[in-house]
Amino acid sequence: MTGLADASVLAPPVGDPIVAVAHVTLRFGGVTSLADVSLQQERGEVLAVIGPNGAGKTSLFNCLTGVYTPQEGTIEFRPEGKSAVSVVGRRPSRVNRLGIARTFQASRLFNALTAFENVRVGVESRLHTGPAGAMLLLPRTRRENRRSRDRSEELLAFVGLTDRADELASALPYGDQRKLEIARALATGPELLLLDEPAAGTNLAEKDALQDVIHRVNTEMGVSVLLIEHDMRLVMAAAHRVAVLNFGRLIAMGTPAVVQHDEAVIEAYLGRTDAGTAPEGGADEAAGPEEGT
Ligand SMILES: Nc1ncnc2c1ncn2[C@@H]1O[C@H](COP(=O)(O)OP(=O)(O)OP(=O)(O)O)[C@@H](O)[C@H]1O
Ligand SMILES: [Mg+2]
Repeated sequence: MTGLADASVLAPPVGDPIVAVAHVTLRFGGVTSLADVSLQQERGEVLAVIGPNGAGKTSLFNCLTGVYTPQEGTIEFRPEGKSAVSVVGRRPSRVNRLGIARTFQASRLFNALTAFENVRVGVESRLHTGPAGAMLLLPRTRRENRRSRDRSEELLAFVGLTDRADELASALPYGDQRKLEIARALATGPELLLLDEPAAGTNLAEKDALQDVIHRVNTEMGVSVLLIEHDMRLVMAAAHRVAVLNFGRLIAMGTPAVVQHDEAVIEAYLGRTDAGTAPEGGADEAAGPEEGT
C-alpha cells in the first residue's frame, strides 16, 4: 500500500458533477447490460466502478463515450465553465472532443509505432492543420509541429516513459504499455479520463506505478478519473468513491471503506463460484475478449 490510502480525505467537494447518468438502460436482444443505472461523478473525483465479470462496467464506458446508445436514460457531461451536453447519440470522436477520453480493456496501441509516435497521434488528433498546410509547411504548421512534439514529450515524461520514447510500443514491458495508453488518452486533453482495467495483467510493482500515475493525473492535471478495476487494493487506494454494478444494476455507491462492507456487494462477489472475494489482480481479464469496444 502506498501513501494514497487516504484519498478519501482529499475527496473533492460535492455538488458539482462532471457527469450525470440517469436511468440508463442498455439491452442487446434478451441481454440487459445496464438496468436503470443512475450515478453522478463529481468534478475532480476518482470514481471506481467495480463488479463481477459481465456486470456492465465496460458497457457503461461505451455509453459514456458514444460507442453504445442506451435505449433509455440520459447522460450529461458538464465541461468546466460550459453548459451541460448530452452524450447519448453522439459519435465517439465528437464525445472525445467534448473532453472525455478513454483507454480500453484490451490494449489498442499502434504496435508498429514507437511510444513517442503513439502519444503524438493522440496530440495531433487535436490539431487543425489540414493536408495542404502540412505539405506547404506553413508557419502555423511548423508551430503546431513543435507544440505537438513538446506536448508528446511532456506526456511521456509524465508517465515515466521518456527513456522508452523510441521503442516500438509492442516491445515495451506490459506495465509500460498500459502507461503509454494513458499518455495517449491524455494527449487529447480530456477533463474526464475513463480507464478500463488499467492494471489488469500487471505485476505488483507495475500496479503501484499505475496507481501513482492515476493519482497524479487527478491531482496534478486536475482530470477527473472514472476507473474500472478488479484489484481492490488499487481501488481502495486510488478512489474517492466506488460504484458497484451487478447484472447491470447499480447495487452500491460510497466510499471504498463503506462499499467494502456492504452486504449486497459481498453477496455479489461471494455469490459467484469463480470469486471467493472481491477479485484481486484481474490478470485473467486481460486476456478476455474485447467486448464491443
Ligand atoms: N456488443 C454487445 N453485444 C451483445 N452483448 C453485449 C455487448 N456488449 C456487452 N454485452 C453484454 O453485456 C453484459 C455486460 O458486459 P460488459 O462487457 O459491460 O461487462 P463488464 O462488467 O465490463 O465485464 P468484465 O469484467 O468481464 O470486463 C454481458 O452480458 C455482455 O455479454
Ligand atoms: Mg469489461
